[in-house]
Amino acid sequence: MAQISLDKIFKRYGAVQTIHGVDLDIGDGEFVAFVGPSGCGKSTMLRMIAGLEEISGGRLTIGDKLVNDIEPKGRDVAMVFQDYALYPHMTVAQNIGFGLKMRGEAPATIAEKVAEAARILQLEELLDRRPGQLSGGQRQRVAMGRAIVRKPKVFLFDEPLSNLDAKLRVEMRTQIKRLHRMLRTTTIYVTHDQVEAMTLADRVVVLRKGEIIQHGKPLDLYERPNCRFVAEFIGSPQMNILSGRAVSSDRGATVEFDGGAITLPRLDAPSGAAIEIGLRPEHLQPCPKDQADFIVDVDVLEELGSDTLAICFLNGRELTVRIPAEESRNTGTRLPLRFDRKHLHLFDSASGARLDFAA
Ligand SMILES: Nc1ncnc2c1ncn2[C@@H]1O[C@H](COP(=O)(O)OP(=O)(O)OP(=O)(O)O)[C@@H](O)[C@H]1O
Ligand SMILES: [Mg+2]
Repeated sequence: MAQISLDKIFKRYGAVQTIHGVDLDIGDGEFVAFVGPSGCGKSTMLRMIAGLEEISGGRLTIGDKLVNDIEPKGRDVAMVFQDYALYPHMTVAQNIGFGLKMRGEAPATIAEKVAEAARILQLEELLDRRPGQLSGGQRQRVAMGRAIVRKPKVFLFDEPLSNLDAKLRVEMRTQIKRLHRMLRTTTIYVTHDQVEAMTLADRVVVLRKGEIIQHGKPLDLYERPNCRFVAEFIGSPQMNILSGRAVSSDRGATVEFDGGAITLPRLDAPSGAAIEIGLRPEHLQPCPKDQADFIVDVDVLEELGSDTLAICFLNGRELTVRIPAEESRNTGTRLPLRFDRKHLHLFDSASGARLDFAA
């Protein structure tokens, strides 16, 4: 069993604190992704779990064991880094088997385990090559092979795909997903690519400045971000944000903005409060003029084939709208749009916190 538990984990470098008391429980076999902007502490968190970085405060348990003061090799975790860290003078087979050799396993056992990993990762043809004779994606698979032969309790990945081109990233993403389905090893996967996090993980943890802002299933974060930061971080293209103001009325509350107004039966914000209105590109629909919530000026059409992104302006404010490809041919310069109230997000302008309302 390898559940991981972080209990008020802190990290300080001298007087500077970079991780501010993180609490998180990761279940046995769970795949968790850490996402967040550069410098938010993703690698630091992972390195503390691996034992490569000292923990300044709090308790870290893996399985049922407190591991704060246990060295990396006593934690039974395997880490895969962004730069792969392969040994250039060793063959693929030697690289994969190196950790086992260091543990003193018998050559026959090592050969068997290396062959199994090579089969899983489709590296069988490449076992005699050296890293310099491999492509980026192949090197990445060797690095994963080295991690899986050890059959660790936990896999830790730090942006393992960020050096690969876009097509290969998507392929490797699928490989990693298959691998997890096969091995069911508890995994923490660091990335700043929210699409990677959403597609791979059972649960996504969003970090900002050394704190967890929200964690949950990918679709829960997408559908109910608890603040503007998460709303804009999750989803691609990014959520559109309009500035508005709450006005109480006898029919409930109205959120007024430059170019329109939305009336809601109930809104948990005082009259006059400044509000951010969040609408995802895929939730804005072209419609007849008399049904529109607002009308935008179309600036640029980006035809993706499957659908089209319309970059538009609403009184000088840029908005992205995702429209079906067949509709893009009929799109004029003025585009009336509506949205379903169930896809509306409202945030308090001052704090960024999600506001509750009845749709
Ligand atoms: N050895 C160190 N001494 C002082 N500060 C450090 C040290 N290592 C990291 N930091 C700081 O800790 C914070 C978190 O860094 P970390 O590398 O964990 O970020 P990250 O989320 O992995 O970013 P990226 O997406 O760029 O990899 C940063 O502000 C960084 O400057
Ligand atoms: Mg990092």
